[in-house]
This record gives sequence, C-alpha cells and structure tokens, in this order.
Amino acid sequence: MTDSEITRDVVIIGAGAAGLTAANELKKAGLSVAVLEARDRVGGRLWTDVVDGAMLEIGGQWVSPDQEALKETLEELGLETYSRYREGDSVYINADGELTRFTGEIFPVPPETEKEMVRLIEKLDEMVAEIDPDAPWAHPDAEALDRISFEAWLEEQTDDQEVRDNIALFIAGAMLTKPAYAFSALQALLMAASAGSFSHLVDADYILDERVVGGLQQVPLLLAERLTEDIFLGHPVHTVETTDDGVSVISDGGMTVHARYVILAHAPILYPWIDFNPPLPRLKQQLHQHISMGFVIKVHAVYDRPFWREQGLSGTAFSPYEISHEAYDNTNFGDERGTLVGFVSDRNADDLFRVSAEERKTRILESLSHYYGPEALKPIVYFESDWGAEEWTRGAYAASFDLGGLYRYGADLRTPVGRIHFACSDMAGAGYQHVDGAIRMGRFVAASIIEEARA
Ligand code: FDA
Repeated sequence: MTDSEITRDVVIIGAGAAGLTAANELKKAGLSVAVLEARDRVGGRLWTDVVDGAMLEIGGQWVSPDQEALKETLEELGLETYSRYREGDSVYINADGELTRFTGEIFPVPPETEKEMVRLIEKLDEMVAEIDPDAPWAHPDAEALDRISFEAWLEEQTDDQEVRDNIALFIAGAMLTKPAYAFSALQALLMAASAGSFSHLVDADYILDERVVGGLQQVPLLLAERLTEDIFLGHPVHTVETTDDGVSVISDGGMTVHARYVILAHAPILYPWIDFNPPLPRLKQQLHQHISMGFVIKVHAVYDRPFWREQGLSGTAFSPYEISHEAYDNTNFGDERGTLVGFVSDRNADDLFRVSAEERKTRILESLSHYYGPEALKPIVYFESDWGAEEWTRGAYAASFDLGGLYRYGADLRTPVGRIHFACSDMAGAGYQHVDGAIRMGRFVAASIIEEARA
C-alpha cells in the first residue's frame, strides 16, 4: 500500500456501530471525517456471514424493546425486524441433570427455591432502580457494592445454591461472560440498569426479542454506504500524536490523517496497542489495566429442519449446570432449515479451549442434545464464533471492570483527553455491551465534538 496523507476535521478509529454512527452525525453537521478500520470489512462485532451455505450472525444479532437508539437507526435505514421463535415449552436442566419443560420466565425449581428467586429478583429490581447507568459510581453505596464480588453478594442474600446459580447466570454467564466472583455487585447492577431492570435480563422474550431480516451487520454496512469516500479498510492505527493544533493518526496501511479531533471507537482493552504521543494521562493508563473482555463461544448448529418444534419445544433452554448454559431457536427469517444457537461462557469456554477442536465440538453438541435430544448431535452446519481469536476485538461480548475498578475509575472511562475522544458500546450507560449502547456513544461523542468545534 502506498503512503498517503490526508487532512480532515475528525479522524475515527474503528468502523463498528459506534464509529460509523459518530462519522455520520459529524458529516451531517458539516464536518469532514475519515474512518480508519483495521479489518477488511466494516461492522466490528457485527458480522453476518454465510458459512457452508448457512447465513449466520457471527456477532451481535438481537434487538430488545428498550434499545431505542438501535430501533431508531433500524427504522431510519429501512431495516425490517422479526420475532425470535418462541412457541411451545422452554427447557431447564437442574444440578442433577433432570430436564423440566416450562413456560414463563421463572425456571421450574422447587417452590421454596422459586420463592427465593422471585424475592431476589424483586430486591435486585429495587436496587437497579436506584442506579444511574451513566453514573453507577454516584450511588451512595457504590463503593461498598464495588468491593464485593457478585458471587459473595449473592451468598449474603440466600443459602439456596440453585437460586444463587440461576441469579448469577443472568449476569455472569449470559451478559458479562465472566465468573460471578470476577466482577462486583456494582458491575452487576450496572449491567441490569443498562437494560432497564434486572427483570428484563430474566425475561428472554424481552431481552432477545427481535432480529433483523438479512442480519444486523446491515446497520454498519448501510451506515458505511453514506461514507464511501471516507472509510479506509485494512488500516490498523498504531500511533496517535497530539499537539496543541491537532492530531495525527498513523496506520499500518501507510496512511497519516491530520485532524482537529480523533475518536477511538473500538474496545477500550485495545488502547494499549496504540502508541500515544504524548502518552495518555497515568490514571487513564491505570484504568485501562482494570478492564477486560468477557469470553464466550457462540455456537451455531444448523439442521435440515427445526426438529425441536415437532416436540412442542420453543428452542429456549437454560441451565447453569450445562456447558452451553443457554440456547435458542435461531432459525433465519423464511428459512426451512432449523438453527440452534448456544452459548458457552467464561470457565466452560476456558475448559473447551484446553481440548482439541473436535473434542470441543463433541462436548458442545452433547450439551445441546441434553436439551433437545439426540438429533441435536448431527447438525448439517456447525460453527463456533470465537471472538477471543479476533485480533481487533479479543473477547466477547464486551469489556467490564474487575473488582473495585468501576467505582475507582468508571467516571474516567469516557472522559476525553484534550482532542482525543472515546466511544464504544463497552462504555455506554443505557445499552451497555450492546449495539444500542454503541450507537448512543457514537451520537454522544459526535455531539460533544460538534459543540467543541463550534465554540
Ligand atoms: P466494535 O468492536 O464493534 O467496533 C470497533 C471497530 O474498531 C472494529 O471494527 C475493529 O476492527 C476496529 N479497530 C480496533 N482496533 C483498531 C485499530 N487500532 N485501528 C483501526 N481499527 C481498529 N449486542 C446486541 O445488541 N445484541 C446481541 O445479540 C449481541 N450479541 C453479541 C454476540 C457476540 C458473539 C458478540 C461478539 C457481540 C454481541 N453483542 C450484541 C455486542 C455488540 O455486537 C457490540 O456491543 C457492538 O457491536 C460493539 O460496537 P462498537 O462499535 O462499540 O465496537
């Protein structure tokens, strides 16, 4: 690639939902932009691809009713949505490996356990209602809540192990994709507050409500169409230099962009891979060492037909005791084939990356067969989304603070450093860890720069 130098008002590093939203907003306001993207495609953690003839959502896919920024964007781009298949019974497997069919939100557990689960969900809803997702550190008990792991907090609340395992699952395995001892109660409350309430996380019909016809990557693809001259793929940025007059951003692809402002629109765990000159302030550098990505394998298994529907099953399956702790019917709109999607998170994912790919597949399909029966063992297409192996992401779904980090540093995460601004789903309040949050952060950072540029 030849060396080139260009000058724009704003240079954006990363063509994910956050970066492309910011670029569009800035352009609408009359500012010139350049988006440098490391990969040879746009979308980042949104990636709809065809694997062995099956269209798969390798990254993000679901839309929930509270995700207003995403919904507005879908409407503006003319994208259609459809409901996740949910007719019939869900299944739950308990610690003894017993499967029970059920309907509704609460897992089929013994009556005392159910009572305890409902009590804790109500308590968490009350606590979450007091948390501002944009400033969880401002809660009067924030420091205390950030000193205790979510697991230890749950142990203080109830002696019932099955209650603790299930309540932990909604945040740990299902959202932050870290063990419940690795993040604080405050971080757990932020996760729930960002989705409106803890109850929303319990309700799969709410949180995993809709999908986009043709795939969610269309959002960044369509946003990028409005920026064709301004997007440069295959340009990993390695250096950000700032002076009083502006910034210069240099990529591995041999491009230098001079601009008034820069937006880092990628996962914050990747900041240390960039050489900042002068260096970022020391507290920012400390803060970046206290956030890490979760770790989850998204498993896609496609069958000649959605055979579980014949048994009256919705495809929705949960168990904190299974390798795949949750699984769903993920059949594409209008597709005769049936697709299941399962998730293998944190320590289960660690364990499966210690064995061969063949062994991993065998164990994952066995886990799915516990929910759906032996037919689940023989998909016609099988694929594991492994974002831990993606150089420009390094985990999934997103980043969160370690114990004590959110209270100590959370307020600094989004704060700009002079001309350097930050935007990503991983630092959102509402929509945290989700595409909705990425869009909100893209809008937020663009509005801040527009205001600054006009001042
Ligand atoms: P994102 O990471 O997408 O974009 C950053 C971009 O910056 C990338 O394109 C990257 O290549 C680029 N980049 C990084 N470093 C660079 C450098 N040095 N130079 C240049 N470019 C660089 N959400 C949801 O709402 N519903 C869902 O169902 C799911 N499910 C889900 C499943 C899986 C498997 C994953 C991985 C994620 C989800 N998510 C999700 C989360 C959602 O996909 C995610 O929060 C957003 O897409 C993140 O968008 P951002 O733009 O913030 O970052």
